[in-house]
Amino acid sequence: MGELTVGKLRPKTKKRLFFALWPDDEVREQIAADAGRTIERSDGRTVPPSNYHITLTFLGAVTASSLPDIVAAARNVRFLPCEIVLDHTGYWPRSRVAWLAPADYPLVLNALVDDLWNKLADLGFRAESRRYRPHVSLCRDVSGGLKMRLKTPVVWPVSAFALVESNLSDKGPVYTVLEQFSAGE
Ligand code: 2AM
Repeated sequence: MGELTVGKLRPKTKKRLFFALWPDDEVREQIAADAGRTIERSDGRTVPPSNYHITLTFLGAVTASSLPDIVAAARNVRFLPCEIVLDHTGYWPRSRVAWLAPADYPLVLNALVDDLWNKLADLGFRAESRRYRPHVSLCRDVSGGLKMRLKTPVVWPVSAFALVESNLSDKGPVYTVLEQFSAGE
């Protein structure tokens, strides 16, 4: 017997979801031109510029039928536009990720992450216990780190956040923006 469907979604299908800041093409190009190009010289798997993002909250594999509730929760999140200045690269040995990050970032960003987790708590999601550290992953499975201060930091104006689906392919993850949520003024 066929499975019941909700719209086009089969309820038992799982989607790997996360909320993220999604850069425009200009920011993407600036990251690729400086930090991304330097990182390319290291070993590991370089993240293609089209995949650059800053994760806000990672939800993992979620039943597709809960997608409308997740979108509704995110619509209730209020945040102000801000600017993130990405100015240095680094490396986490445990996750073997080389990244680009801001030395300082606006409190608005922490408030956004906290508010997202608060709204998602009603749906059974629990915030991660580790400290939130905003970053753009540049290279995965790297054996060593490159610490570098960018001569020209990348200024990323943030006016929205996105709900993104991740699908694994032979060539690595493919990300699809499902919804965008705008900042208030
Ligand atoms: P990363 O860039 O630091 O690896 C999509 O997979 C995004 O969600 C990636 O940017 C990844 O962060 C983040 N992510 C993947 N698995 C995660 C996990 N278990 N906990 C937190 N974030 C995760």
